[in-house]
Amino acid sequence: MIYRKPTFKDVEAIHKLINNYADQGLMLARSRNVLYETLRDMIIAEKDNVVVGVGALHLVWEELAEIRAMAISPEVTKQGVGSKIVEDLVVEAKGLGVKTLFTLTYQPGFFSKLGFSEVAKEELPHKVWKECINCPKFPNCDETAMIRKI
Ligand SMILES: CC(C)(COP(=O)(O)OP(=O)(O)OC[C@H]1O[C@@H](n2cnc3c(N)ncnc32)[C@H](O)[C@@H]1OP(=O)(O)O)[C@@H](O)C(=O)NCCC(=O)NCCS
Repeated sequence: MIYRKPTFKDVEAIHKLINNYADQGLMLARSRNVLYETLRDMIIAEKDNVVVGVGALHLVWEELAEIRAMAISPEVTKQGVGSKIVEDLVVEAKGLGVKTLFTLTYQPGFFSKLGFSEVAKEELPHKVWKECINCPKFPNCDETAMIRKI
């Protein structure tokens, strides 16, 4: 397994990986536009020249960042790929001076294994919700809010 930053050539594979899960209601869909704009946020996992995992670190406010867009291909789940991507994103976050990571997720069990704890959504700063207005579910968010101090 290779873990690396993506390039434009990886966008179609990332789009497919994320939106296959989004079609099943497991995560939020991402347009190509958003993927291009946030490509530098991401780390991908690649096996035999195929993109099999993705995750992103999105800077939100001073010392605050979000882990998002986690998607691991079904053939390689439960093999530590998601954990490795999160931990690589944590290293990036620490390098930038991030002190608090948060996530809004449908998979709290995965994130709790990685040291995230559930918090009330109201505990997250208002700035966090800026992008939520573009979500089809807004304002009825059914994701779990979790944070990890790093
Ligand atoms: C959730 C997801 C990212 C996990 O990735 P993964 O590579 O399978 O995770 P890992 O193998 O690193 O798992 C790490 C640990 O979390 C556990 N875990 C993984 N998914 C879990 C879940 N949904 N609930 C509870 N525990 C979970 C694993 O069993 C493992 O535990 P262990 O260390 O005791 O063995 C992946 O299953 C996925 O892409 N799912 C579909 C899309 C999705 O739900 N994305 C998250 C959107 S919020």
